[in-house]
Amino acid sequence: MQESHNIKAMFDNIANKYDFLNHLLSLGLDFCWRKELLNALYPLDIKSIICDLATGTGDSAKVIIKKGFKVVGVDLSLKMIKISKKKLSKKSFFPLCGSGYQLPFKDETFDAVTCAFGIRNMHSIDKALIEIFRILKKGGKAVILEFSLPSGAFKIFYSFYMKYILPNIAALFSEKEAYEYLWNSICNFPSTDEFSDLLIKTGFMGIEQKSMSFGTVYIHKAYKF
Ligand SMILES: C[S@@+](CC[C@H](N)C(=O)[O-])C[C@H]1O[C@@H](n2cnc3c(N)ncnc32)[C@H](O)[C@@H]1O
Repeated sequence: MQESHNIKAMFDNIANKYDFLNHLLSLGLDFCWRKELLNALYPLDIKSIICDLATGTGDSAKVIIKKGFKVVGVDLSLKMIKISKKKLSKKSFFPLCGSGYQLPFKDETFDAVTCAFGIRNMHSIDKALIEIFRILKKGGKAVILEFSLPSGAFKIFYSFYMKYILPNIAALFSEKEAYEYLWNSICNFPSTDEFSDLLIKTGFMGIEQKSMSFGTVYIHKAYKF
């Protein structure tokens, strides 16, 4: 698929500077967002096995394994996954290069699936959600962390930062186009209501959505019963 190929190439190109720019451009807020992702996983038995889809350089997996869980990380980009492999303990983190559209796992393998800032990059969101649903055990949960468009006056300031300031700062260290793409992908991502509808259409239940950082980031929690 050409689109997936382009996305893979883009993340391969920015992999080396990804963590540094993530912390810088989010003003360190990404640490708080990942902490919320971890909180959203509870209650969860310590023996639970978690799949972190679009694991990237493993920053979300890192927070999860610190609490004693085992995480299987999947990502399309070999360069991103190689960085995650270097960063995280081999005892608790199992990285795999693969696509969210065709996950190499049997049905009902995982107690939870997390996906941080990944699903927005998957052009066929419904296909990715079907895969997440398939690999979850009954009673399991999906926790999806994703950007969103804020409303009101803050939207004007936020749009200006994301469209004009962020790509120019990123250009000093990495590929400007990738960070221009970031803003476009946020604008094209479904609204929280539309995303909730997609989750329900997939078969998920008990949807909970939590807004963070003035509505620029959301945690979507959904169960498979
Ligand atoms: C913005 S990064 C997020 C990485 C990490 N989850 C984090 O929070 O820092 C998006 C990741 O999604 C991965 N990705 C994009 N499309 C994918 C797909 N179809 N299947 C698996 N991973 C994908 C990219 O390679 C990239 O590492």
